[in-house]
Amino acid sequence: MRKLAAGNWKMNGTSADLAEASALKAAHPAPGVDILLCPPATLLSRLSDSVGATIATGGQDCHAAASGAHTGDISAPMLADAGASHVILGHSERRTDHAETDADVHAKTQAALAAGLTALVCVGETQAQREAGKTLDVVGRQLAGSVPDSATAATLVIAYEPVWAIGSGRVPTLEQIAEVHDFIRGELTARFGADARAMRLLYGGSVKPANAAEIFAISNVDGALVGGASLKARDFSAIVTALENAAPD
Ligand code: 13P
Repeated sequence: MRKLAAGNWKMNGTSADLAEASALKAAHPAPGVDILLCPPATLLSRLSDSVGATIATGGQDCHAAASGAHTGDISAPMLADAGASHVILGHSERRTDHAETDADVHAKTQAALAAGLTALVCVGETQAQREAGKTLDVVGRQLAGSVPDSATAATLVIAYEPVWAIGSGRVPTLEQIAEVHDFIRGELTARFGADARAMRLLYGGSVKPANAAEIFAISNVDGALVGGASLKARDFSAIVTALENAAPD
């Protein structure tokens, strides 16, 4: 399986930041891993045009319907039309800010697959859930509720993002990451059989150039979903290089 370095720009970036994507492309003309940038929707089309086949692009959310009276929302076919091949779904910031449930994420994931997009479905526990010993329960429930049966290794990526590690500079121990990624692989295998071996599992939450290599050395970590450190080409490029240099699983 090819590893995946994915950047989530969140609600950051205007036209001037397209130069960061171009610099990233220039630094990796023939990358040894897949690179994905998920800019705000306002930049998606221009960024897709400028970085083309070298760097894939994705949305950060989509509506469950293909079209209709949903002011302010964006559908999966619209993302595809703007050049996206991927979409992030069920990010904890969507689950918190917009009260998205697992059922919502499930419906959105089905819409994404129907539009030919690959879905990056996010799961992860809060600090309180971890302290209560509920991490695997929470992640298992999110996986079961958010991922539709029609998903395949080609159309589904899972991102494990502990809520307390996002934007905080706090990272789980390598053992904690390994425990959850092994658990996710097991859950997917129980559900999808051999195909689950090829489903990519990303870690996300305060991934930086300084900690990327040790995270990528963990088995069942097939890449990263990077927030803050994906905004600057220099930082994200260092993370891409760390992933290229990681030993295969
Ligand atoms: P940070 O890398 O900024 O912690 O964000 C992680 C994230 O939420 C990516 O989706």
